[in-house]
Amino acid sequence: MLSAEEKQAIEAEFPHYEQKRAVCIEALRVVQKRRGWVSDEALREVAAFLEMTPDELDNTATFYNLIFRRPVGRHVILICDSVSCWIMGYDRIREHLTKRLGIALGQTTGDGRFTMLPIVCLGTCDHAPAMMIDEDLHRDLTPEKLDAILANYP
Ligand code: FES
Repeated sequence: MLSAEEKQAIEAEFPHYEQKRAVCIEALRVVQKRRGWVSDEALREVAAFLEMTPDELDNTATFYNLIFRRPVGRHVILICDSVSCWIMGYDRIREHLTKRLGIALGQTTGDGRFTMLPIVCLGTCDHAPAMMIDEDLHRDLTPEKLDAILANYP
């Protein structure tokens, strides 16, 4: 069941759009923010609330790679996997994270602390290589900087 708080947060978006279904991305983000990811059950609840079919909503949810349809760690690392970052050291950053965390792209650490995912250009190419952890952008990355950055995410 969607909580009263989730319903309220979703309903707050309704006045901005002509149709309930137009709120679907925002609604999925509301649920994900509180639950960490969007389960099948949660997807069905949101779909019913927005008067959509679960399939319609799932098509949208799976199109956006920032809607997580599988459980993720407490912190999600989005490592930029686009051309400027490739040129500026993407491989070194990915390899360092893989070694440090013991996971490959698409995986979650055994303690549930981090999930590491690729993402397209983060729009900060002049400070490549770059990544996001949760809502935070990290730029001009070097392997040396990574350990200090990770320590800020318990
Ligand atoms: S290519 Fe990585 S920030 Fe643009």
